[in-house]
Amino acid sequence: MNSVWMADHRDSSPYPPLAGTVEADTVVIGGGITGVTTAMLLAGAGQSVVLLEAERIGASNTGGSTGNLYGTVSDGLAKLRDKWDADTARQVVTMRMQALELIEKTSARLSIDCGFARRPLYACVAGDDEQQLASLQDEHRALEEAGLAPSWVDAVPGLPASALPPRAHAALRIEQQAQFNPFTYVQGLARALAGQGVRVHEHSAAVDVDAGAGRVKTAAGEVHAKHIVFATHTPKGFNLVQAEMETYREYGIAGALDAAPGQGRAPEAICWIRDRSRSIRSCRHGDRDHLVVVGEKHKTGHNAADTDYHERLREYAREHFGVSSFDYAWSAQQYKSADALPYIGHSAHRNVYMATGFGADGLTWGTVAANVIAELVQGRESPASELLTPKRFTPIKSAKVWAAENATVMKHLVGDRLSSAEQHRLSDVQRGQGRIVDLDGRKHAVYRSPADELTVLSPVCPHLKCHVAWNAAATSWDCPCHGSRFDIHGQVIEGPSLHPLERYELED
Ligand SMILES: Cc1cc2nc3c(=O)[nH]c(=O)nc-3n(C[C@H](O)[C@H](O)[C@H](O)COP(=O)(O)OP(=O)(O)OC[C@H]3O[C@@H](n4cnc5c(N)ncnc54)[C@H](O)[C@@H]3O)c2cc1C
Ligand code: FES
Repeated sequence: MNSVWMADHRDSSPYPPLAGTVEADTVVIGGGITGVTTAMLLAGAGQSVVLLEAERIGASNTGGSTGNLYGTVSDGLAKLRDKWDADTARQVVTMRMQALELIEKTSARLSIDCGFARRPLYACVAGDDEQQLASLQDEHRALEEAGLAPSWVDAVPGLPASALPPRAHAALRIEQQAQFNPFTYVQGLARALAGQGVRVHEHSAAVDVDAGAGRVKTAAGEVHAKHIVFATHTPKGFNLVQAEMETYREYGIAGALDAAPGQGRAPEAICWIRDRSRSIRSCRHGDRDHLVVVGEKHKTGHNAADTDYHERLREYAREHFGVSSFDYAWSAQQYKSADALPYIGHSAHRNVYMATGFGADGLTWGTVAANVIAELVQGRESPASELLTPKRFTPIKSAKVWAAENATVMKHLVGDRLSSAEQHRLSDVQRGQGRIVDLDGRKHAVYRSPADELTVLSPVCPHLKCHVAWNAAATSWDCPCHGSRFDIHGQVIEGPSLHPLERYELED
C-alpha cells in the first residue's frame, strides 16, 4: 500500500545496513523528515553523524502524509490559543513559517525535484451547523491575531458545489502556504547527506539503546555517540509522554482526475473541509493530475475490524470529483499531545533527545524539531526549546486527554484480558482476515493468509501489555494503548514497542 508520493521511486534501498562498530558525535534514529533534517543541520554544523533507519528513508509517516506545509495547525489555531494564549499562538506560527521557509530554501539549494510550490490554504465548513460556522469565525480571529492575514471567500476554486455549497464566508483563505512531495524531499536530503559523508543506513532498526554508555545497537552493528536523537515519531520503549498522547490512524487515496467536461478539477491548494473531516489537494503524477483525499481518522486499535476506510474515501471522490479509478491507497499515524504543542527536546537523559506529539502537522513540526534539537545538541537553548520541552508540566491544559487516555489504557490492559466479547473460533477466521481467537482458554491473534496459512501470535503488546486489535484496512495488528503496530508476522511496524509479538507454532 504505497502512497502516491512514493510511486515514482524504485523499491531498492541504496543505503547498506549498519555493520560493525562506528563512532560519531551524534546518532540519529529514524529517517523521516525529523531525522533526516536533524542529520542535515548537525552535519552542516560540522558534526559527524550516523543516521539509522529501520526500513526505508521517508517511507513511514512522512511518505504517508498529505504533503501540506502551513503556519497554522490542522486542529485549529483557536484551540491552541485557548489552551495557551495569543502570544504562544503567534510564536507557534512564526516558528512553523520559518520551518516552511527552511524546506523551501533547502529544496532549492539541493535542487530536489519535490514539486515545492507556494499555495493558498482553505479552511471550510460545508454544512450549516451553527457551531461549526461560529468556530470558523473564531478561527479567523485567531489566525488574524497570529499574523497569518486570513481572508473570507465564498467558494474554493476546484471544489465542486456538491462538496462545498457556495455562500458568503464559506471558507477562509491564507496565502503563501506550500505543498510538495514529502517522500521525494527526504530522499533528496538523504542523498545529499550521503554525498557529504554522513553515514546513512537503511534496514538498521535500533534494538537496544544504552543512554549512559552512549551506545545504540542494531542487529548487525552498533554506534557509539555522545548524542542520541530519537526521531522515531514516538520515542521507543517507556516514556512518560506516551501516557499524555492520543494516537490516531488516518487514510489516504489518490486517483487520476478524469478529463471529462466539468470534471478533472481539484483544488491547487491545501483544502480542509472541517465538518466533513476531509483534506483534499491535487498533485501532478506521471503525466496526469491526481486528486488526493485524506480522512476517516480513528483512534489506533479502535477501528471496526473489517471496515474499508479507503472505500469510504473513494465513494466521496467518485461522488464529488467524478474520479473513476484509484491507483493509490495508504494510511499513516499521528500522535497528538495533551496540550496541543509537540514534545521536542531533552529526554530523561541529557544526551538523549526526542520529538513527538506532532498531530497531523508533523512535516512542519518535524522541521521545527530538527532546528530545536540541532541547537540543543550544540548546547544552545532557545525560546522554542523552552516552550516545547517534553519536561513541561501542564496539568490544566492536559487534564482532559490524560484522563481519557489513561482510562483507555486501563480498559485495554485489564478489560481485554477479561472480556470474551471479541473472541472467535479458528474456523471463524476467513482468508485475508485476522481475529482474536480462543485456543485452549487463552487468547491468540490469528491471521489466515489468502493461501490459507495460519499465523498465530500472542495478542499481548510487548510495550506495556495491552492487547492488539486487527486492522483490515492496514493489514496489521494495532495496539489501542500507545499505537504500536505489528505486521502479520508480529514484527514491529511502528510505535514504542522495541520487540515483536510472540509467535506460536500451531499444533494439529
Ligand atoms: C494521513 C496523514 C496525513 C498527514 N499529512 C500531513 C501534512 O500534510 N502536513 C504535515 O505537516 N503533517 C502531516 N501529517 C503528519 C506527518 O505525516 C508526521 O507527523 C510526520 O511525517 C512525522 O515525521 P517523522 O520524521 O517524525 O516520523 P516518520 O516519518 O514516521 O519517521 C520516523 C522513522 O523512524 C523509523 N524508525 C522507527 N523505529 C525505529 C528504530 N527502532 N530504529 C530505526 N528507525 C526507526 C521509522 O521507520 C520511520 O521511517 C499527516 C499525518 C497523517 C496520519
Ligand atoms: S503500545 Fe503501549 S501497550 Fe501497546
